[in-house]
Formats: sequence, structure tokens, C-alpha cells
Amino acid sequence: MPAPRRGFFVAFEGGEGAGKSTQVGLLAEALTAQGQEVVTTFEPGDTAVGRQLRQILLGHQTGVIDHRTEALLYAADRAEHVASVVAPALERGAVCITDRYIDSSIAYQGAGRTLDPADIKRISTWATGELWPDLTIVLDIDPAIGLTRFDTPADRLEAEPLAFHQRVREHFLALSARSPARYLVVDATASADTTAALVYEAVQKRLP
Ligand code: TYD
Repeated sequence: MPAPRRGFFVAFEGGEGAGKSTQVGLLAEALTAQGQEVVTTFEPGDTAVGRQLRQILLGHQTGVIDHRTEALLYAADRAEHVASVVAPALERGAVCITDRYIDSSIAYQGAGRTLDPADIKRISTWATGELWPDLTIVLDIDPAIGLTRFDTPADRLEAEPLAFHQRVREHFLALSARSPARYLVVDATASADTTAALVYEAVQKRLP
């Protein structure tokens, strides 16, 4: 059963170095300035349990873990995230903006790790009680460029080879092409302000 909601749910998705956190911040600022209650959040790790899962999922000390284990841990992080952060925000009528959500699992654990994307979608659909974003913004960037944009050492996923990240990118684009009404794809090589303006316009059009 879908979680009850009165607010508006936005997810930012995309590959490494696409500038999602900057855009989350700019959108939150613009919506707050117009009087909206805004909750910004991220995956993996924006809950007490999630912080521990994040350590396991992204820390190199974890070493090799089975791909299914990885997929289930991301889904577990998401279940906790929805139950304790996203659903309460939407129930209050807030705009909730998340940096990554279900499509990250479908693209990274599905296309990237080459598990069946339909299985990945199913476990996250169950984990979230079928809570899908009202709008998903895909910040699209060639991973050959995005992967050069780090200022911190690469985590377990970032350290995957270019071909992995290319599959991830293609899958984000394929998901967007399947449901164009619920997606906005933006060229992440444009300036932050240009991207922010496109994002703001798309959100404004859909806000209840
Ligand atoms: P992080 O450093 O938090 O953020 P970002 O790369 O978005 O700036 O890294 C999160 C990493 O976790 C990123 O490499 C993608 C990966 N990830 C998955 O593989 N599956 C998922 O379901 C999620 C939410 C993230």
C-alpha cells in the first residue's frame, strides 16, 4: 500500500560528479524562499541505521560482498529512510528532496552489477511501500568527465571501472525515456545556475 502523502517528493539521480548535492541545495533554497517547508535528505545513510549501512556499503574495509547482499543493504537503508524521514515529511505536507533513491539501485545494482533490474525494482518497491517520487531529476554526465570531478578518495562504487559507470548512465537515461512525464533529464555539464533554473521550472509546474 502506498504511504499516505500530502507533500511533494523530488529525487535527484545521476552518475558520479554530476553535482547532485549542489542542485539539491539550490532547489531547497529556492523553495524555502517561496515559503515551502523543505526537507533535504540523501541515500545511503541519512538515518541512524543508515549511517552504519553506509559504512558497510561504501567503505573499502568491507571488501567484496555478494551483489545480492549489496542490493538488499541498499534496500534496507531505503526502507528506514522512507519510514523515518521521507514519509513523515510528506505526511506533514513538506517538499522532500532526496539525493538518490530507487533508480540508483536499479541503475547501479541492476545495470552496473548486472543483477536483473526488475528484481532490484521489486525489492525497493516493497521496501518503500511503493513510494515513488513525483518527479525524478537525472543529472546526466559522461562518466569519463564525472569521475574526474572528485575531491575525495573514490569509495567502493566510485572505484568501479568506466564501463560500469557507462552502464549506470545508460540505464538512468533508459528509465527516464520510459516515463518522460515523471522525469527531467538535464545536461550536468551546464552551469549550476542554468541547471538550477531548469529544475526549478520543472518543479513549479508540478507542485500541487
Ligand atoms: P555518495 O558519495 O553518497 O554520493 P554521490 O556519489 O551521490 O555524490 O555515494 C553514494 C554511492 O552509492 C554512489 O556511488 C552510488 C551508490 N549507490 C548505489 O550503488 N545504489 C543505491 O541504491 C544508492 C542509493 C547509491
